[in-house]
Amino acid sequence: MKIAFLSDIHSNYHALTACYRYIEKNNIDHICYLGDYISDFPYPVRTLEAIKEFARDHSCFYIKGNREEYMENAFKNNVTFNKGSQQGSLLYTYENLREEDIKWFMSLPVSCEITIGDYAPFGISHGGYDNSRDIITIHDNTAYNFIKKQTTRLHILGHSHKPFIYERDGKILLNPGSVGVPVSGRKKAQMAVVTFRADMIMPEFVELPYDTESAIIEFYESGLIEYADVWSRTMIAIIETGEHYNEKCIRLVEKLAEQSGRDFSDEELWQNAAEILGI
Ligand SMILES: [Fe+2]
Repeated sequence: MKIAFLSDIHSNYHALTACYRYIEKNNIDHICYLGDYISDFPYPVRTLEAIKEFARDHSCFYIKGNREEYMENAFKNNVTFNKGSQQGSLLYTYENLREEDIKWFMSLPVSCEITIGDYAPFGISHGGYDNSRDIITIHDNTAYNFIKKQTTRLHILGHSHKPFIYERDGKILLNPGSVGVPVSGRKKAQMAVVTFRADMIMPEFVELPYDTESAIIEFYESGLIEYADVWSRTMIAIIETGEHYNEKCIRLVEKLAEQSGRDFSDEELWQNAAEILGI
């Protein structure tokens, strides 16, 4: 049995369809989505419709990520996002979603355990078991702390966009990286495929080229760039380089805000950061 794990699509339809082509070609039996389906890239409904369409003849499992929770929160509590580099991408996404999409997000769990046939059960989450915003990485002790609490032999999570495989005490913790916003230096959609055979678990990372040109053009064509200028430019820089430009930009804006005593949402700070980063 083969299962594909797809995390952090972020409305990057072109990257997603490259993954779908691979899944079809390689006879993968099930698909597990780890959340953050939308935001950052344009046309969120196109991505959600592609996911729905693919589920017609594929077996799929879903959980939600923090981006879906932001949309739910805006819907339930009448939260409004502002135009501008800090929140404009969330505003664009919220305005372009349908009520049925948000209701679907609301129906999804934050984490779950899956058992298929006689194979060993495995767990999935976006971040932590209870909090989709928990960042679990191997660069600090978060992966170690997670695996100590891990209740299944295999657990797969996303959110950091940084792929890793971590093994300890007979347990495996896996992050497939990000389908739509990969930041490990390579300009390819990332996912993981795990082969289950008897009591063996064999994970494999997959990286796929996709239509980056169309992905970039659509930031302008859709009008998203006018909602979230610098944020969209960090996304375009990520597409072009595979480097973590949104993280770099946030750090820089935080520093500039601290130095100047101005607010983190101040558009001028974002424009200054973009100039320093050369994006
Ligand atoms: Fe996330």
